[in-house]
This record gives sequence, C-alpha cells and structure tokens, in this order.
Amino acid sequence: MKSLFSTLMKNFEGYAIGKTLAYLSDPEIISFAGGLPSNDVFPLDIIQKAAERSLKEDPAHVLQYSPIPGEKKLVQAIIEYLKTDNIHIEPENIMITTSGQHGLDLIGRLFLDPKDTIVIDLPTFGGALAAFEMEDAQYVAKDIEKDGSDVKGMEAGIEECINDGRKPKFIYVVPDFQNPSGITMHLEKRLALLSLSKKYGIPLVEDSPYRELRYRGEHLPSIYSLDENQGNVIGLYTFSKILCPGIRVGFNIGPAEVIDKFSFIKGANILNTPKLNQDICTAFLREYDLGSHFKKAIKYYNEKLNFFLETIEENFPKDMDIVWTKPEGGLFLWITVPEDINTSDLFYKAVEKKVAFVPGEVFYPEGYKRYNAMRINFSYPTKDEIAEGVKRLSSVIKKYKAEKKD
Ligand SMILES: Cc1ncc(COP(=O)(O)O)c(C=O)c1O
Repeated sequence: MKSLFSTLMKNFEGYAIGKTLAYLSDPEIISFAGGLPSNDVFPLDIIQKAAERSLKEDPAHVLQYSPIPGEKKLVQAIIEYLKTDNIHIEPENIMITTSGQHGLDLIGRLFLDPKDTIVIDLPTFGGALAAFEMEDAQYVAKDIEKDGSDVKGMEAGIEECINDGRKPKFIYVVPDFQNPSGITMHLEKRLALLSLSKKYGIPLVEDSPYRELRYRGEHLPSIYSLDENQGNVIGLYTFSKILCPGIRVGFNIGPAEVIDKFSFIKGANILNTPKLNQDICTAFLREYDLGSHFKKAIKYYNEKLNFFLETIEENFPKDMDIVWTKPEGGLFLWITVPEDINTSDLFYKAVEKKVAFVPGEVFYPEGYKRYNAMRINFSYPTKDEIAEGVKRLSSVIKKYKAEKKD
C-alpha cells in the first residue's frame, strides 16, 4: 500500500511532538512535555450548563450539520469580545475553525504551492511547522531575539528570496508568549513587522492562543489591532487555552477574500465545527464572568511559573552553563543547554529517570535543526511534581555531561 502514498506523505512524519508524548503513558513520569492548560482552571460549571441547555432546548439543530463558517451567535459574541482587545471586525472578517491547528491547516492550504517559501522565527511552534510541511514549505528562518522576531534578518531574507524570484507567501509569528520559547514581541518589533508586511505585500499570520494569559509586564496591542483591520494581518485564535482544548473550537480573522476561501476549504476538509461546542463557547463569552475566570487562571499559572523559576534557579547552578527564558505569560519556557548536550538523546535518559520535556529539535524545520534546547510546560504539573521533576532533570543533565567526559 505504501508505494501508493503521495510522494510528500511518504516522508511526512507528522507533528514530532506526538512521538515524544507517546513515551509518557507511564503515570510515574513527571511531564513538563505537554502543552496542556490545567484541568483545575476549566470552567466546568458553564460548560455543563451550556451543553445541557443546548441539548435540551435545541436538539434538532445541535445534532445536525451546521453552517460551514460557524454559528452566527458565536460569530457575533466573538466580534463583541474582540472589541475589548481593540479589534473591530465585521462578520465577513471571521470564520469559526475547529481549533487553532485547523486554523493553521487552512493557512497552509490557501497560500502554499509545493516549495513555496514562508518566513518564520527559530524556534517556532512545531504544530505550525507540521501544517506547513504538509504543503512542502520552505523557509526564511531567523533566530528569535529576546524582544521577538529578528525583523532585520527577516527583511534581508525576504530580499534574497525576491531576488531569486520566489517571494515568500506569508510571515508566521506568535507574538505573545511564543510557543515554545515563552518570548513576547516588543511593541517596536510588532510595528516593524507590520511595516515589513506592508512594504513587501506579504501577509502576516499572527497566531494568538495565549494573549489573555499575561502574568506580568504591560499588555501590548496585537499586530492585528495595529493594522486596524486593513487586510495585512490574518489572526489565528483558539478557545483551547482560555476555555479548554477538548471542545476544539477556534477562529480565524482577516480580509473577507481570505475568509471566503477559508470557508470553501473548510467545506472540503472538516465541513462544520460541532454546534454543541460552539454553543458552549458562546455561553462562555456571553454569560460567564470572564474577568474573574482570567484572573483565576492568571493567578494559578503565575504561581506555577514563579515556583518553576525559583526551583530551576536552585537546581541549575551557574557552572552548569544553562540559561532559560523568563516568560511574561503563556504556558512555556525554553531552556538552552551547552552545545555538547543533545536534548533529543537526553530525552530518553530523562524518561528513564521519570521526567520528560520536549526536545528543542521539534521546533526547528528540517535543514535548521538545533539540539541543545528543550521546551518546558510549567502549567500542568503540580508544585510537588515541579520540585521533584526539576531535581531529576538537573541530575540527568549532570550525569549526561559526566558520561560524555569519560
Ligand atoms: C502557537 C500555537 N498555535 C496553535 C496551537 C493549536 O491550538 P489548538 O489546540 O486549538 O489546536 C497551539 C497549541 O498548543 C499553539 O501553541
């Protein structure tokens, strides 16, 4: 059968994190690997209430096919919600997706022919890389800096591509608490990136799953809001991290011509997003005390982050030559180890000692791989697990280094 697979799919191995997570079925493993929001902050009360109500009051519609672009009530609730973040759009500028990953898939399918080039940070979200790899993408890839994308490097890369006759199709960034690095893009860079997008007529894809989860520092405008809905930016959102990932609902916003095409593609791949799940999101936005909900989530995650940072400081002394990011929000931080430590190797040794992370390699496309970093999720493990897990991680790294010397 394999010989019949398409050439592209023969070599496609999916989102590499999946392979990592497959090792983690052992309940004794303390995992810093998943991208999981904590079950403790899911608003179960409104989810249950909304689901029961929808099934009771409107079963005929809930159990049927529903409109491809999404439920009007949810679209309207999101339009209102986005106003609180200074984004002002019309129904023609939004389509409901079946989660953020679906939003990424639509971007890849709409813009990319095989071997087309896109502009990304290094590292960047592995799920996005997987979605773009499905379309056989190539990259202008520049190391992310402490304050966000290397805009100058990106511009030089874009120039080079244009001179080569292959203008990049879009720029992909996660400006708020980037997955995997936890880095936040400063305002000047948001503006510079937007100018770059306008100067070259290359759309900017702004992926924003974590925006509401800011624990410190000043709230920064989204690039979408800076563009004032002028059509240079496509925004990708999901309810996964602010409500829960299980319901698989998100939305893409952007110019009407792009949204129209998304609807056609969605009709061909997923068709519709379950109405029941959309009704839950509508109730969450319309009826829930979002202020208190986010406050609770922020307090909860911030405590975990602070505790993780303290624990790592205690367990990774300076002579280990290890550095880590100190995110202002989101769910991840990024640990860089000396070059002689290969974290893809280290992963297996760590799993033997019952602790896990995601090897940094997953967040670099083929041809750009680096092996001396790891992504840490601090939001899911308990404080006791963090204390024990960081200790285990420190001793695994020390042992790895000692064995290398011998
Ligand atoms: C940057 C980024 N984009 C998209 C997604 C996908 O979100 P979803 O779980 O809604 O598919 C994630 C999930 O971790 C993410 O971190």
